[in-house]
Amino acid sequence: MYEGLLKKYAEYLPVTENTPMISLCEGNTPLIPLKNLSKELGITLYGKYEGLNPTGSFKDRGMFFAVAKAVESGAKAIVCASTGNTSAAAAAYATRAGVKAYVVIPDGKIALGKLAQAIMYGAEIIAIPGNFDEALKAVREIAETEDVALVNSVNPYRLEGQKTAAFEICEDLGNAPDVLAIPVGNAGNISAYWKGFKEFHEKKGTSLPRMHGFEAEGAAAIVKGEVIEQPETIATAIRIGNPASWKLAEAARDESGGHIDSVTDEEILNAYRKVAAQDGVFVEPGSAASLAGVIQHVKNGKIKAGETVVTIFTGNGLKDPDTAMNESNITIHKMSDLEEMRQYLRNGVASL
Ligand code: F0G
Repeated sequence: MYEGLLKKYAEYLPVTENTPMISLCEGNTPLIPLKNLSKELGITLYGKYEGLNPTGSFKDRGMFFAVAKAVESGAKAIVCASTGNTSAAAAAYATRAGVKAYVVIPDGKIALGKLAQAIMYGAEIIAIPGNFDEALKAVREIAETEDVALVNSVNPYRLEGQKTAAFEICEDLGNAPDVLAIPVGNAGNISAYWKGFKEFHEKKGTSLPRMHGFEAEGAAAIVKGEVIEQPETIATAIRIGNPASWKLAEAARDESGGHIDSVTDEEILNAYRKVAAQDGVFVEPGSAASLAGVIQHVKNGKIKAGETVVTIFTGNGLKDPDTAMNESNITIHKMSDLEEMRQYLRNGVASL
């Protein structure tokens, strides 16, 4: 039986005999071949569907471990700033561990599903008028003076847990892909993947990918080389103007011979619709930034024909129903009569 990441990858994690076994059976997510997009783009493309983690995003990979280590150190409460997914994961794992979660969110700027999760898992929710960067600054200061463990990705145990996704990819493919495409917000995940690929390279002799990270254009601090005071993008998950792991992300890019580039909201929405409609995978807009980037890099030659590319779908599309409803052409046919329905279907099928 699969029992989660602590059990599976203990030898790769800084575990002690006092680390509690906290698990929601996170990880072990599928690497889905994106057949139609592969054909269209002329590459071999897979989507690692992190939206199938227990709280619907990749955050579970880091959170089980950050919370376990917080409990190990005697903490009774954890705190985080979040654009939504971290708060959902923190809330769920805090509940499993029997500690309190305080989550600080930018008011009105997190997707509905994520807020609903934090509420249901029983977190204390604090909304501030500022953005994620301001929320993170505040919780970092609070964690200095108060008896709470900070579980944002500045906590090194988060990256330790998140690196396991790179292990799974190498195990599934037998090697690393040529290119790993990933959205960049606070820049923790790209740093964690690179750490994971390097560790597997050293221990198992698997290859190293080129790391291609993608920021949203209105929040592209690393690409522009400056802090963005008022980040804006439809992809609220990555609406971040001063990434905490900036330097680590640049190191991942440079050591791997990769790139960090930006994608517009239009490119994000195009990829968001495309992967659902063409390959049957519904991801949240922030996740679609990586696919938008793959499409851009195939066009400009940064990804070459025939290469194997893994794009990380960091969060489930169900997290953000508002964007789905607002950004698609909705046609719902209201019918109450069986015959009308039969005729409608018959005509439809006949025209296929
Ligand atoms: N994709 C999704 C769905 C996210 O929720 C995030 C970050 C990212 C990508 C970017 O990952 O920050 O490691 O570069 N969400 C954080 C949160 C900030 O609070 O949920 P990153």
